[in-house]
Amino acid sequence: MADGSQFAFTPAVEAATLPLWEKVKRHVTPMEWRLQAPLIAEINRLKREKNAVILAHNYMTPEIFHGVGDYVGDSLGLAKEAAKSDAKIIIQAGVHFMAETSKILSPDKTVLIPDLRAGCSLAASITGADVRLIKQRYPGLPVVTYVNTTADVKAETDVCCTSANAVQVVEHVAREWGVDRVILIPDEFLARNVARQTTVGIIAWKGRCEVHERFNAADILELKAAYPDAQILAHPECPTEVLEVADFAGSTAAMNDYVLTRKPKQVVLITECSMADNVAIDAVETEFVRPCNLCPHMKRISLENIYEALVMNQHEVLVDPDIAERARLSVQRMIDLPPPLVPARYDLIKARHHVDVELI
Ligand code: 13P
Ligand code: SF4
Repeated sequence: MADGSQFAFTPAVEAATLPLWEKVKRHVTPMEWRLQAPLIAEINRLKREKNAVILAHNYMTPEIFHGVGDYVGDSLGLAKEAAKSDAKIIIQAGVHFMAETSKILSPDKTVLIPDLRAGCSLAASITGADVRLIKQRYPGLPVVTYVNTTADVKAETDVCCTSANAVQVVEHVAREWGVDRVILIPDEFLARNVARQTTVGIIAWKGRCEVHERFNAADILELKAAYPDAQILAHPECPTEVLEVADFAGSTAAMNDYVLTRKPKQVVLITECSMADNVAIDAVETEFVRPCNLCPHMKRISLENIYEALVMNQHEVLVDPDIAERARLSVQRMIDLPPPLVPARYDLIKARHHVDVELI
């Protein structure tokens, strides 16, 4: 069997995984560990044998994130790692657009995704043909595209962005092109939230993240009433009404940094469920209140299918070379930007109500 169920919790496995067990034991039961540790040990052995690395997004479950991830982080961090990694094989523990981004940046490497069905509602909301029509409708305006898109959309894009740098990219592009409006697609809420932090006008698309669109301000206010001392951190893919009542907004890496550096007594992360599980393992001084929504696409990735991907060299993610070459320019322009000097102006989200957003 290639799913790893043949591996037992031997004394050798126990010894090899002991440091990890010490780290996760407040969050994993001994029973769960007996099932997870053999696969973790075997995956880590196979990675060395095959010169493979695992790039794991913050929404992976803790046994993947802490157990086998070589590089962990947000979309921006993983894209940067993909660009500089010298491994032969990249296993993307994340969703399909992330694997495509890795392939675009590392065309000579084998990029595998453990489950080809791991999609994204934002990536599914728009095609390259849609972007060509948008460009015809708004000639001369730059196209900034969220990395949560397919390669053919990135190929029609001037500069990509992530939730960590969207404001910076929009302002940079507007300055460079000498324009006062920018097309920022496909996440409507990210676009509206960026518009609150800049005077650049935004033309947006009606894509949504199916995980973050489900949060609303009433739920957050209820949480605030129940946990008055808790810091509420929300992802910028949430509706603006959520960010208006939250204490902080940022990418998954920004939320992680916030908790680890500011060490709030109590925190609520308004995002995907595994995020809090992963941060809680490192943030020993913080108590987590955990309302969350699961991303069904991220949750398709498991230790079992990561093991299968490594053993069988499956499922390879390929991108048409012409599309990849054009897409690479837009991703590389984003990577080449200096890191933001200041964090996102979250206070502006609360202060500015009249913003210039045109929805296509
Ligand atoms: P980050 O860039 O914040 O990691 O977000 C990626 C994502 O898919 C969120 O849903
Ligand atoms: Fe896409 Fe939302 Fe899932 Fe992220 S959390 S992969 S944006 S559906």
